[in-house]
Amino acid sequence: MTASHDLTRRAALTFGTAGALALAGCADVSGDGSNDDANSSPIAPDDTASAEPPAAGEAVAATADVPVGGSIDAKLGSDPVLVAQPSEGEFVAYSAICTHQQCVVAAAGAEFHCPCHGSIYDAATGEVLAGPAPEPLSPIAVTVAGDQVVTAS
Ligand code: FES
Repeated sequence: MTASHDLTRRAALTFGTAGALALAGCADVSGDGSNDDANSSPIAPDDTASAEPPAAGEAVAATADVPVGGSIDAKLGSDPVLVAQPSEGEFVAYSAICTHQQCVVAAAGAEFHCPCHGSIYDAATGEVLAGPAPEPLSPIAVTVAGDQVVTAS
C-alpha cells in the first residue's frame, strides 16, 4: 500500500503537470487574449481543476463497464482518463494525456493508442510499447468501492 500511496502522489503531480501542459497547448496564439484553439482542443481551456490532484473517492467508472483484459475511456471530473482491468478485480487508471504532445489517448483493449502520432501504451502498466511517446502515462491510484472504480487516497 505504501508503493500505491507513493504512486498516488507522483501520479497526481505528474497528472497535474500534464494537464498544465495540455492547457499551454490551448494558449492564445494570436496574442489577442482569446483562446484560439478552444473548439479543436480535446482539453477544455477553462479546465483549471486538472492542475489539482484528484480527491479520493471520486468515481471513475463502473466496474462492470471495464472488461477483464480490456480498457475504457473515462472521465475524472472533466479530465480524460483511461481505466483498465488487467486481471479480474484488478483495476488501474491513467491520465489519458499522451506524454509526447499531450493528445488524448484512447482505450484499445489491452493497449492505449494515441491518435496523433501513433504511440501505443500497455493498458496494464501504462508503459510505452511504441513511440514517439517518451514516458509512460501518468498513473492514477484507484480502488474499488461497491460497483465503482474510485480514486484512492
Ligand atoms: S501526441 Fe501522442 S504520439 Fe504524439
